[in-house]
Amino acid sequence: MFKDEVLMILEKNRGKEVSGEYIASRFNVSRALVCKAVKKLREEGNEISARNNGGYTLAENSGALSDIGIAERMSVARPVIYLPETDSTNKRAKIMALTGAVHGTVVAADRQTEGRGRRGRSFYSPAGSGVYFSVIIRPDFDYEQCQKVIPMTAVAVSRAIEKVCGLKTDIKWVNDLYYHGKKVVGIATESIGELGGVKPDALIVGIGINVTTQDFPEELRDKAGALDVCINRNLLVAACVDEFFELYDGLAAAEFMDEYREKCFVLGKEVRVLCSEPYLAKAVRIDDFGELIVEKASGELVKLLTEEVSVVIENA
Ligand code: BTN
Repeated sequence: MFKDEVLMILEKNRGKEVSGEYIASRFNVSRALVCKAVKKLREEGNEISARNNGGYTLAENSGALSDIGIAERMSVARPVIYLPETDSTNKRAKIMALTGAVHGTVVAADRQTEGRGRRGRSFYSPAGSGVYFSVIIRPDFDYEQCQKVIPMTAVAVSRAIEKVCGLKTDIKWVNDLYYHGKKVVGIATESIGELGGVKPDALIVGIGINVTTQDFPEELRDKAGALDVCINRNLLVAACVDEFFELYDGLAAAEFMDEYREKCFVLGKEVRVLCSEPYLAKAVRIDDFGELIVEKASGELVKLLTEEVSVVIENA
């Protein structure tokens, strides 16, 4: 569509004015058609200012998401699929992975109607205020190594938020990010593979970030928060993907685990382990696979596997 060509030019020149005449002549169309495309892009949430002389500027912090906007900001070219609204990007990515989507494909949405969380929970995903995206990876490592993708993603997203928003987040084991004591990021991975296989065919890494989200449902109000920054959301998605793949090559060595442990505020705390029979314990260590080792009152050490349990901090 012509509006996509216009967005591409404005995105490449974000914050700078591009004359309507230049766009029109580049595509051999009338200025009126350019004006119409800009109107459509504005309706989609892009902040584009216009001057009397016919110059257009896409605002530096214009928050509207687009495939072009995300792809333009990533340092390595990867397929990006943007859906204004979908049920769940994890679900969409899983279907795409089953039908051959390549390693590194990114599926992003402005709104999810059935955002999936860990352990059967849902993820609140209203329009215009968060980023919800899934990355498809085709691992060349076994299921045991795959476990490390979870803490690795938490470190990658934390780094991206610091770069793009200038904010430091903390990690709550396994992979929630907190800012000012409230959960602002959720990460949920899903795998596709044959039963009994050594490695998955694909791993879907789903990331949800509350950027300016407000009006959380009653049951989330005490716990959920937002980064509360006015940023270019495309840039945030691109930065997360870049940081993710920067760490991905070093997955086996897992050097990022030291940063994970530093940022993880669960260590040393009294926690309640939520499983079929919840119990109290002290969080003593996190190993290089991201497994949390807790000490029960009896002194018994228990290793908690990342996707199986959750912990809540006692007296927090
Ligand atoms: C959690 O907090 O339990 C994990 C939430 C993960 C949410 C993200 S949003 C993008 C991707 N698509 C989904 O349906 N879920 C993940």
